[in-house]
Amino acid sequence: MGHNVIFMLSAMVYLLINIVTSLNSSTDEYALLAFKSQITSDPNKILAKNWSQGTLFCNWIGITCGRRHQRVRELNLADMGLGGTIAKEIGELSYLRSLIISNNNFHGFIPNEIGNLSQLQEIEMQQNELTGSIPPTFEFLENLSKLNISHNGLTGNIPNGIFNLTSLIETSFGSNNLSGSLPMDICFNLPKLETLRISANQMGGDIPPSLGACMNLKLLSLSYNNFSGSIPMEIGKLSKLQVLYLGANNLIGNIPNEIGNLSALVYLDFGHNGFNGT
Ligand SMILES: *[C@@H]1O[C@H](CO)[C@@H](O)[C@H](O)[C@H]1NC(C)=O
Ligand SMILES: *[C@@H]1O[C@H](CO)[C@@H](O)[C@H](O)[C@H]1NC(C)=O
Ligand SMILES: *[C@@H]1O[C@H](CO)[C@@H](O)[C@H](O)[C@H]1NC(C)=O
Ligand SMILES: *[C@@H]1O[C@H](CO)[C@@H](O)[C@H](O)[C@H]1NC(C)=O
Ligand SMILES: *[C@@H]1O[C@H](CO)[C@@H](O)[C@H](O)[C@H]1NC(C)=O
Ligand SMILES: *[C@@H]1O[C@H](CO)[C@@H](O)[C@H](O)[C@H]1NC(C)=O
Ligand SMILES: *[C@@H]1O[C@H](CO)[C@@H](O)[C@H](O)[C@H]1NC(C)=O
Ligand SMILES: *[C@@H]1O[C@H](CO)[C@@H](O)[C@H](O)[C@H]1NC(C)=O
Ligand SMILES: *[C@@H]1O[C@H](CO)[C@@H](O)[C@H](O)[C@H]1NC(C)=O
Repeated sequence: MGHNVIFMLSAMVYLLINIVTSLNSSTDEYALLAFKSQITSDPNKILAKNWSQGTLFCNWIGITCGRRHQRVRELNLADMGLGGTIAKEIGELSYLRSLIISNNNFHGFIPNEIGNLSQLQEIEMQQNELTGSIPPTFEFLENLSKLNISHNGLTGNIPNGIFNLTSLIETSFGSNNLSGSLPMDICFNLPKLETLRISANQMGGDIPPSLGACMNLKLLSLSYNNFSGSIPMEIGKLSKLQVLYLGANNLIGNIPNEIGNLSALVYLDFGHNGFNGT
């Protein structure tokens, strides 16, 4: 008797979970269709033909679903010539790990709702025409390891919270119109960071000595900005650094001897600054 009740209850719970899961997966379809509806240019009619209602969205081009649940894990629409704005409903793809829309013609703002995608590991939005600022809500993406938003028209500061995302490995903010300065404690929480590319923006202020705490840094590019002050000697602690680009800024003073200890270095550019000394 007791066993039967338990069996019935667990069967009901199982059914309920399935109903809830299927409700959620229809949320994914709804979110994808909302995303499609804001695409105004699709020259090769890729989404127009392929993303059609009535076919399972997991089979749509650019979509990868999880094996166990029919939920979107990856959205990869790179290099498709798509234009339009990014629908805020994208923030409802709650299981998304990888969001790749690079090398298209997306314009307008990056929706704050992307900060709701707590499982995101990868954002690649480089080479579009995005404007406005980097959403401060990105600070909630605790598992983000790759962030590339280079070659857009983004303005404003890089939100400080981004530098508290301990999972970050590769970042590129290059070729935008970003301003402000880097936080002095930039590397206190970035143990895995390998790439930091901020070149070709309008950032200024001092180069933070705490960069010396990003022990895994291989590439540091701050060129074509308005950074001032001198090169902190702490940069000399970055034993894995292979690329150091600081050219075309307002840097002054001596080049610290510690730079001579960067034994992994392959590329170095300090040109177009105001250095003196030997
Ligand atoms: C359904 O979605 C909601 C909100 O997006 C989430 O809290 C819940 O865990 C999801 N349920 C399942 C079974 O995926
Ligand atoms: C969409 O594209 C995928 C991958 O190319 C293909 O497998 C699928 O059949 C297409 N679906 C439709 C409705 O055209
Ligand atoms: C998603 O993000 C937006 C903006 O950041 C917020 O207003 C909204 O409450 C969030 N929604 C959920 C379901 O967390
Ligand atoms: C982040 O990654 C860890 C380790 O893979 C995992 O346990 C955790 O659930 C993830 N967090 C989110 C919000 O997905
Ligand atoms: C940055 O701003 C300047 C002046 O406002 C503008 O001419 C330039 O095209 C912008 N650069 C980018 C990459 O948006
Ligand atoms: C990281 O978070 C801590 C605690 O909220 C804060 O004090 C610190 O300034 C943050 N670091 C950065 C680089 O934003
Ligand atoms: C970001 O995208 C740019 C432009 O496509 C590319 O050159 C760069 O290597 C990428 N950076 C990272 C960290 O993926
Ligand atoms: C560059 O920084 C200096 C201060 O170091 C400031 O006086 C100047 O206005 C800045 N230039 C630009 C173009 O932001
Ligand atoms: C360079 O590294 C060596 C060995 O680790 C150390 O003894 C020396 O003090 C360092 N020189 C500078 C200028 O940091």
